[in-house]
Amino acid sequence: MKLELKNNKVFFESKGLKKEIHPFWLRERVNGEKYVDKSTQQRLFDPTQLQENIQIKDLSLCNDFLEVNFNDGASTKIAVIDIFKEFSNIDEIKQIKKIKWDSSFSEQNTFEFDENLFETYEMYKALINFYQYGFVIFKNVPTKDNFIVKFANSIGSVRRTNFGEFFNVQSKSNPNDLAYTSLNLAPHTDNPYRNPVPCIQILQCIENEVAGGLSTLVDGYTVSEKLKQDFLDYYKILAEVKIRFQFIDQTIVLEDWAEMIKLDESGNFKQVRFSPRLDFVPLIDKEKLKLFYSARKKLSELYNSENYKIEFKLLPGELLMMDNYRLLHGRTKYDANEGNRFLQGCYIDYDSTEGRLKHLKRKFNF
Ligand SMILES: [Fe+2]
Repeated sequence: MKLELKNNKVFFESKGLKKEIHPFWLRERVNGEKYVDKSTQQRLFDPTQLQENIQIKDLSLCNDFLEVNFNDGASTKIAVIDIFKEFSNIDEIKQIKKIKWDSSFSEQNTFEFDENLFETYEMYKALINFYQYGFVIFKNVPTKDNFIVKFANSIGSVRRTNFGEFFNVQSKSNPNDLAYTSLNLAPHTDNPYRNPVPCIQILQCIENEVAGGLSTLVDGYTVSEKLKQDFLDYYKILAEVKIRFQFIDQTIVLEDWAEMIKLDESGNFKQVRFSPRLDFVPLIDKEKLKLFYSARKKLSELYNSENYKIEFKLLPGELLMMDNYRLLHGRTKYDANEGNRFLQGCYIDYDSTEGRLKHLKRKFNF
C-alpha cells in the first residue's frame, strides 16, 4: 500500500490499483483538538453540516504523516498508517479463524480464574480460544452470591431476558422449560425464538453431586460444513427456508422466523438455530417440504451423532462460555435423588467479547 500526491489530490495504491481519495473523506478525519475530543475520540463537529465542495488547498507527506489544508480553513495531520488501516478494512474478529472440531476434540481450552483475569493476557488468550472453538472453560470461578452476573459484567453487560438477569438450572416442579427437569436434553441452541437471539451463553456449575448430568457440546459449524459437503441439497434448503421458532408461557409469546442454517452475505456460515421442541415449519409446497423434512432429519442425526459430540462433567466453580450462534449444547439425564445438580446461566452479546478482546489487544499492543 502507498499514498501518492499529485495536483492537490491524494491517491491510494493497493495491489496495483490506484484510486483517488475523496477530499471530503480526509476532511472528516481532521483530528486536531478543535475537531476531536481527545479522551472519547469523538468528533466535535458534524460532517453533515460541512460544505459539500470541500477541496484540498495544499498538502504534503512528511515523516509518515499526511498534512492537509482544506478550502474551508481546516487543516490536519493524519498518520499514514491510520489511513492504511481503514483501507485494509480488517475485521479483527473475523481474522480469527474458526477451527472446526468434533468428538475427538482434545485442545487445552481451560483457563484459571483470578480476580484480575479480565485485564490480563490470559483473558486475551481465552477470548481467542472462544472465537476459534466457540467455547472456553474457566476453572475456580467463585460460586457465591450469583457471581456469574459479576463475571459476565466484567466482560461486557448481561443480556437480560424474560428468564431474568440470570437463571438457575435445577430440576423443579411445574417447569416452564424442560431445562428445569432432570431429563436428557438433546443438543440445541438457546432461545431461537428471540430477535436477536442471545449471542453467548455463560453456564456455571455451582453444585454437582450426581453421576449423570454431563454437559454436551456440538460444533454446529463442523456439522453444517459436513452437510454442505455430503448433502448439498439438504444444506441449501435448510439455509433457505425460514421457520417459526416459538416460546409461550403465562406472561409472554416470543416468535421469530429464521433459517436453521444462516449464511452471511458471502454465503459463509453465520448461525445455526436448532431446537426441535420449538420449531414450526411453514406450509410450503409439498415437494419442497419433503426435501426439507429429510434435510432436517439428517441434520438432527448429525447433531446427535457420537461423532460430533463432546461430553464432560462440569464441576463446581467451572464456568463454560459458549457461542450460541455456533455451538449446540445439551446434557445427559441424571437422577435427582442422588443429590443436587445446580447450574446458573446468563447471556451476553458479541459486543461484550469483541469489545474486551479489542481492548486487550490495544492494551498489550498487538
Ligand atoms: Fe439450553
